[in-house]
Amino acid sequence: MQIINFAFFVLPESSRGGRAVRQAYHTANASGLCTGAGIWRDTGFMSLVTFSNVGLRYSTGPEILHDLSFSLQKGSFHFLTGASGAGKTSLLKLLYLGKRPTRGLINMFGKDVTAMPREQLPAMRRQIGTVFQDFRLLGHLSAFDNVALPMRIAGVGEEHTRRNVTELLKWVGLGDKMEAKPPTLSGGEQQRVAIARAVIARPKLLVADEPTGNIDPEIGIKILYLFEELNKHGTTIIIATHDDDIIRRFGHPQMRLENGTLIMPPQSQKAA
Ligand SMILES: Nc1ncnc2c1ncn2[C@@H]1O[C@H](COP(=O)(O)OP(=O)(O)O)[C@@H](O)[C@H]1O
Ligand SMILES: [Mg+2]
Repeated sequence: MQIINFAFFVLPESSRGGRAVRQAYHTANASGLCTGAGIWRDTGFMSLVTFSNVGLRYSTGPEILHDLSFSLQKGSFHFLTGASGAGKTSLLKLLYLGKRPTRGLINMFGKDVTAMPREQLPAMRRQIGTVFQDFRLLGHLSAFDNVALPMRIAGVGEEHTRRNVTELLKWVGLGDKMEAKPPTLSGGEQQRVAIARAVIARPKLLVADEPTGNIDPEIGIKILYLFEELNKHGTTIIIATHDDDIIRRFGHPQMRLENGTLIMPPQSQKAA
């Protein structure tokens, strides 16, 4: 299996806190510094995201997520599992700042996002790559322009953008579909465009909702290698998935939701 090695994934250490942070993270796990939900200690600079007693309800309905307390350490990679309706998509919504919790606190990248003024949220969201279950591609733009969008928003030069987008789209097997508009693509092809768009700008956090749901198993594995490569270069990753083969093969720790609460939070799993 060819492992992707984009030039644009190779960043100076200083721009992403990569090796030093990952080393600190592994040391912390090995020493049991991170403890279970509810009684966890804030591990300070190593936490990219911290939830404290978070709950969520949709309008006046029942609380569908409750008592979520956990931290995602910088450079970690988790699978989010749980039966249909357990709350995976809702938890991811909180993580990509698509919704605010109804109670509790969320700290992301060192900032309290629950109290953050609405106008500051887009800048936070630009640091998060999201693969939505329903893709949410812009139908009037080509596959190329959909993937290029985060780089253009970030002000990256056009030549650099063109090179990287072309390389990534070829790598996900869409080299001959770059000018196609999403409505003319299959579900699996749209999913790969959505994945490319989520990773192209090297986000701090990648949140993916069943990203291999519509694609061939072989391409699904290739996509997971792409995520691993991104993770090696510093991106913290959380993927909701039902795919037992992927979970077994890649072996990243699981966060498991049951009836709206985490029965396997990240730290307790890592300590196991
Ligand atoms: N927009 C919504 N409005 C009201 N209820 C919702 C909404 N989205 C999800 N729910 C409910 O929240 C619960 C968790 O759903 P979801 O987060 O989609 O779970 P999963 O992704 O694990 O299948 C379900 O009971 C679902 O019906
Ligand atoms: Mg879901």
